[in-house]
Amino acid sequence: MAPAVSIENLKKSYGDIEAVKDVSFAIEPGEIFGLLGPNGAGKTTTIRCLCTLASPDAGKVTVSGIDAIANPRAVRNRLGYVAQEVALDKVLTGREMLELQAALYHLPRKTIPERIERAIALLGLEEFIDRKTGAYSGGMRRRLDLASGLLHQPDVLVLDEPTVGLDIESRIVVWDFLQQLRDDGTTIVLTSHYLEEIDALADRVAIIDRGEIIAEGTPDALKQTVGGDRVTLRIREFTPDAEVATAREVLGGLDFVSDIVVNAAQGNSLNLVVSGHDNALLSIQEALRDRDLPTFSIAQARPSLDDVYLAATGKTLMDAELAAAGTRNLKKENKQAMAGK
Ligand SMILES: Nc1ncnc2c1ncn2[C@@H]1O[C@H](COP(=O)(O)OP(=O)(O)OP(=O)(O)O)[C@@H](O)[C@H]1O
Ligand SMILES: [Mg+2]
Repeated sequence: MAPAVSIENLKKSYGDIEAVKDVSFAIEPGEIFGLLGPNGAGKTTTIRCLCTLASPDAGKVTVSGIDAIANPRAVRNRLGYVAQEVALDKVLTGREMLELQAALYHLPRKTIPERIERAIALLGLEEFIDRKTGAYSGGMRRRLDLASGLLHQPDVLVLDEPTVGLDIESRIVVWDFLQQLRDDGTTIVLTSHYLEEIDALADRVAIIDRGEIIAEGTPDALKQTVGGDRVTLRIREFTPDAEVATAREVLGGLDFVSDIVVNAAQGNSLNLVVSGHDNALLSIQEALRDRDLPTFSIAQARPSLDDVYLAATGKTLMDAELAAAGTRNLKKENKQAMAGK
């Protein structure tokens, strides 16, 4: 069987910005596939090329074996797309929006009321579906977007940041809903910059950074590639440099400890990787105590997808987001400065 989605060596630039440099991945039918990456990584651009809303500069996109560039209409019939930002016509009610959407998809007239009712029930829209969308909260709007994305019962549902701006309760409604759809056989592609979301939902994930895929696999397999558990340790709330040096020496001598990093921004806390030891925390505390070093706090955690990102790029997703935000502000300032000239 052809993959539900296949993207090969996709490239797309806007002027001199290479939004997507080289992206390839394949998605099997019935999978939830997550595209994870920081702001500006190229997620939306990739998704727009998949949904035939942007034309690639190079590369190949197919949906159920159908070429998206040669046959955009056939591909669109198989896809449901929920955009990152949607402009709602505020004077229509939610139900009217869904009816409009059904007409745009040329759904057979007879099936429309039943499909709309089903979408309303699936997403729990009953309470507000007959109110004007201008008065919807962010969560209500998002749930209506999702409902309209699946009205024509697509084989592949593509969602760009489906839960951005939602409170935790609405987010869980959406997660449950997506899992239910997947269990009914729909292939789901979603982008997110929420690690927990991708970790909780995706059967497979591709991590995208600056227009390129830097890692791909099941969340568990990816986490295994970065090795043992993470330990965060503080000797004191603010540990003096001399004690940090001693702690480094002590920890460096333990054969189950590797990758010791001092985090000055966190009061000189120590981050390490431990592997092959059943009771690493106790042994670390004992070794420190032997050199008269106390333990203010210590915690052990499984590696996360952020550790995968960190291993591949040398920075955390959070740092990458901050850097992207910084660039945006700089661009804005430059524009303002130029305008002021
Ligand atoms: N229509 C456009 N015109 C010019 N540049 C664009 C356009 N769309 C995207 N870009 C640029 O391409 C790069 C990738 O953008 P894209 O929207 O694909 O990122 P993203 O991963 O979806 O980010 P976010 O998490 O913020 O949604 C960015 O540098 C962005 O500024
Ligand atoms: Mg985006």
